[in-house]
Amino acid sequence: MKKITVHLGERFYPIMIGRGLLAKAGNSLKALGIGQKVMIVSNRRVAREGKLLPSLVRSLKRSGFTCHIHLLSFGDERDKSEKELFRLWNALLEARLDRTSTLVALGGGVVGDLCGFAASTYARGISLVHVPTTLLAQVDSAIGGKTAIDLPKGKNMVGTFYQPKLILSDLDSLATLDVQTFQNSFAEVVKYGVIRDPKLFKLLERRGTVFLKRAKKHALGSSDFRFLEEMIYRSSKIKALVVERDERETKGLRTILNYGHTFAHVLETASRYRMPHGEAVGLGMILAAKFACKLGRTTTDFVDRQLALIRALCPASSLRKVAQKYYFTWKKLKPLFQHDKKVVAGDIRFVLPIRLGKVQVVFAQKNDWQIIRSIFQEMGVD
Ligand SMILES: NC(=O)c1ccc[n+]([C@@H]2O[C@H](COP(=O)([O-])OP(=O)(O)OC[C@H]3O[C@@H](n4cnc5c(N)ncnc54)[C@H](O)[C@@H]3O)[C@@H](O)[C@H]2O)c1
Ligand SMILES: [Zn+2]
Repeated sequence: MKKITVHLGERFYPIMIGRGLLAKAGNSLKALGIGQKVMIVSNRRVAREGKLLPSLVRSLKRSGFTCHIHLLSFGDERDKSEKELFRLWNALLEARLDRTSTLVALGGGVVGDLCGFAASTYARGISLVHVPTTLLAQVDSAIGGKTAIDLPKGKNMVGTFYQPKLILSDLDSLATLDVQTFQNSFAEVVKYGVIRDPKLFKLLERRGTVFLKRAKKHALGSSDFRFLEEMIYRSSKIKALVVERDERETKGLRTILNYGHTFAHVLETASRYRMPHGEAVGLGMILAAKFACKLGRTTTDFVDRQLALIRALCPASSLRKVAQKYYFTWKKLKPLFQHDKKVVAGDIRFVLPIRLGKVQVVFAQKNDWQIIRSIFQEMGVD
């Protein structure tokens, strides 16, 4: 088991990464000194995965917690809506949760983001524990305190900063994931490699493809769990470090975590959130690297190396196919750049790669739109 502490003064919290953590969750929660009432929030899909929910409930009950369970309706991005938020708030009230109670989010980034928002607002704030069950949630969304729901025209447009009390990243919970969900999550891990950790990038180049082959057959062995642990540990460490130094994204550092995301959010919004986040981030990083290259900030070698890794590990790397599927046109995409909440006083920020392990934040200049348009054209969007 590996442990990272996120240092945020008195709001510090541990991230535990290892196998068999769900079965010991009761002890871990007890150590937090929280009240005995707990609401576990998950979705039907995760709940169907045999062992996860029962194992968590059993462990919490054994440690003396009273457990309530609430399942979100869809099991995908549609759950990050005002309707599901209201349903959850009402469920918390019906179960009579109070300020001493705790909300436990068992699921992927969608469950985590919605639960974070609900926990930060219900009764003006109750304790939150993340039990992330996708690779993306373990390396990214559970860490750092960003919570959100989507508006029809803006992803993650309403949210809060609210740190959890504990994150339990149980590697065994990933064994039931299908290979597509792994592929979607790999985009964020590639992102960490590019922005800060060449060793992680090389680890992915060396081991990623073999891992995916075994994940496809649901045949992960002990070497795969060691790979997962190393990858999740390295990624979580970067995220924790960035969050410690720039918790509310006011100092510029946290912006680097948005590498590939300016483009990704535009694509996701244009697809009306039918496009998986990881797929959009993969394409977003390809677009950002091409943009950086055209501006003379990075080399074609870097663009090609990143492209090869994204093609090997992430879902679709063909913008052309995605554009056909979701009917993207430049006319439809361009205005969506302005909706991104990273826009500062009308200026659009891009995180651009310089070399492996180094990125820079730049504001788009007027002429850049020509360049961006030409990249979209080259990649099949007119
Ligand atoms: N808060 C943040 O800082 C942050 C960062 C990155 C992404 N996000 C958000 O995270 C979301 C994406 O998260 P995601 O990729 O985890 O998607 P997700 O939560 O939709 O999960 C992917 C799919 O896997 C299923 N699933 C989850 N755990 C499973 C398990 N153990 N076995 C089988 N199936 C399982 C889910 O039900 C879902 O169908 C987006 O909404 C994105 O905006 C937030
Ligand atoms: Zn992301």
